[in-house]
Amino acid sequence: MKFETAATTNPIDQLKVIGKPLSRIDGPLKTTGMAPYAYERHDVVSNPAYGYVVGSAIAKGRIASIDLGKAKAAPGVLAIITAENAGKLGKGDRNTAKLLGGPEIEHYHQAIALVVADSFEQARAGAELVHVDYVKAEGAFDLEAVKDTGKPRAPFGGPADTAVGDFDRAFAAAPVRLDATYTTPDQAHAMMEPHASIAAWNGDKLTLWTSNQMIAWGVGDVAKTLDIPKENVRLVSSFVGGGFGGKLFLRSDALLAALGARVVGRPVKVALQRPLMFNNTTHRPATIQRIRIGASRDGKITAIGHEEWSGNLPDGRAEGAVSQTRLLYAGANRMTATRLAALDLAEGNAMRAPGEASGMMALEIAIDEMAEKLGLDPIEFRILNDTQIDPERPTRPFSQRQLTECFRTGAERFGWSKRDPRPGRVRDGRWMIGIGTAAAFRNNLVVKSAARVRLDRSGIVTVETDMTDIGTGSYTIIAQTAAEMMGVPLEKVVVRLGDSTFPVSSGSGGQFGGNSSTAGVYAACVKLREAVAQKLGFNSAEAEFADGEVRAGNRRVPLAEAAADAGLTAEDGVEFGDLDKKYQQSTFGAHFVEVGVDAATAEIRVRRMLAVCAAGRILNPKTARSQVIGAMTMGVGAALMEELVVDKRKGFFVNHDLAAYEVPVHADIPRQEMFFLDETDPMSSPMKAKGVAELGICGVASAVANAVYNATGVRVRDYPITLDKLLEQMPDVG
Ligand code: MOS
Repeated sequence: MKFETAATTNPIDQLKVIGKPLSRIDGPLKTTGMAPYAYERHDVVSNPAYGYVVGSAIAKGRIASIDLGKAKAAPGVLAIITAENAGKLGKGDRNTAKLLGGPEIEHYHQAIALVVADSFEQARAGAELVHVDYVKAEGAFDLEAVKDTGKPRAPFGGPADTAVGDFDRAFAAAPVRLDATYTTPDQAHAMMEPHASIAAWNGDKLTLWTSNQMIAWGVGDVAKTLDIPKENVRLVSSFVGGGFGGKLFLRSDALLAALGARVVGRPVKVALQRPLMFNNTTHRPATIQRIRIGASRDGKITAIGHEEWSGNLPDGRAEGAVSQTRLLYAGANRMTATRLAALDLAEGNAMRAPGEASGMMALEIAIDEMAEKLGLDPIEFRILNDTQIDPERPTRPFSQRQLTECFRTGAERFGWSKRDPRPGRVRDGRWMIGIGTAAAFRNNLVVKSAARVRLDRSGIVTVETDMTDIGTGSYTIIAQTAAEMMGVPLEKVVVRLGDSTFPVSSGSGGQFGGNSSTAGVYAACVKLREAVAQKLGFNSAEAEFADGEVRAGNRRVPLAEAAADAGLTAEDGVEFGDLDKKYQQSTFGAHFVEVGVDAATAEIRVRRMLAVCAAGRILNPKTARSQVIGAMTMGVGAALMEELVVDKRKGFFVNHDLAAYEVPVHADIPRQEMFFLDETDPMSSPMKAKGVAELGICGVASAVANAVYNATGVRVRDYPITLDKLLEQMPDVG
């Protein structure tokens, strides 16, 4: 079905199952260890061999020679795959560097060999014996040093540069001005489940049990890299232990497992070892951001400018940190610019709210700074500059925009009125206490998505789609959608996901998966309802589906009767017209954070957090809440801990394991509250829902930063805000 006009009342609006805070239907499997990740699929192949990936020890240059002699002779070693013996390989549309490098080396820990052996330990021991001689070349590893060589590069979803009015003139003329530069570091997805795959060939047909967010992309890129027809590739990702954007693309584990399995004539399992992941896979690239804001004395923004510099491998993408500044606040004179410089670090790519999270980390500190200059409350300053239309394209309204309501509700719930705007005034024993706020803002994308639904004679409705559940709750909201549409209880729905033999869905990315994939299931169910109505002799426009029955007038027939012995199957999908071009579709929120900063050591502890979100219809408040509090947690990591430290001489991320790449643990996270405003967005899809999983991370780090400022009076503009950046400037408060 094509979704072209705003949704009117439809069966989803009954809200008997949709909108309920139901527990995840895969929860019991998850908590009992019965939901196998790719590497744990002991049921799918017998007698697998094990592959161990060797990563390049240099960041740029070439391999002069590889000596495989000792490794080949090691116990259990079956084969060693390198670029020299792998045959000609293509490159996936979504891969920047080659997944099997050599002789040219593009980045540190680029895979250069796969050692395949009878056991994992033998493969690992064999890998230690691979001897490589390199010829090093000069590389660029320091963003600050190369930023001025940056060229305009369009980020996802927009042009490189935009300009409205006359920014320079308006900024120069503004009586109150801010000109500040912020930096965000490289960050790692650091998901729990590493990239892992099992590959098995059956003749010329390849099956990969793998950990991937986007099944159809993966199939396409495997086929392209191996130069085989897409029909010969099957990807299965039934359960994914976290992705955050790190598993959007084909990575070396899957490709090398396929190559290894072909050579040894046995299934091959490959998991990327954790210390390899940080430099071998993708990461969120660092940014340098300059923000200039000019305002009249009464607090109206007259000029707003945001420039971003990031680095990536040649052909890599720009981070896109300016994108939210294009939309968030009013102001007649505006400019944004995106500059991308060449760097020889591993590939920078999407991580939870790519671009938007990084940009909000800077913008929402800048807004706090500007409010202070104006002597305005930071919430009032934001509300004063709110806009219901796209400020760059005034013919486009937002489909829904409850930013102000989020702030008002949050302020009330958090006790904002008790905040002392003067920094450094509130103490609790040794702790200096501060409160900060920031807007949350993330766009809502809609992506074509299809599904197949089958009704069988026992009344079970089975949904199949290649949609993935990366810990997000897809299984559950898809089951809720089918239950609502077919008028059956949740227990009567079976959901099968993550298999390329199923209809192609949106996949999990860009917070588009929840709304788009359920809309695809909705479309398939509309078709199944028509088939059922026809089979049972109902007029499909009049038929009501409820309590396992089809009803119209006085007639009621059990739904299962339509299935007969053969069952009844329908397949359809949703395609989105141009509503998202006519209306700016976005999700909004307000973050509130209270921190304590140790007056002597500058240790920062987050004490309280609240997020209020407006993100369309909430399909399942329990799973949606989990997404938001998870994102808030990740935002605390971004604010206070996360940083891939670059060795600028050798060109790699030094802290490439979970001991040294710090993320929040339970003890770092206080009581979190979150609240959804009542909203339905009929422009977004028949589900009237939107994304929420990435909204939650946008702005959190700034709210933490603003709270730290309110506590101490020290403004840190370089993330993460570690105590060393505070210590020297801490007020002498005894
Ligand atoms: Mo998301 S960064 O598109 O998985």
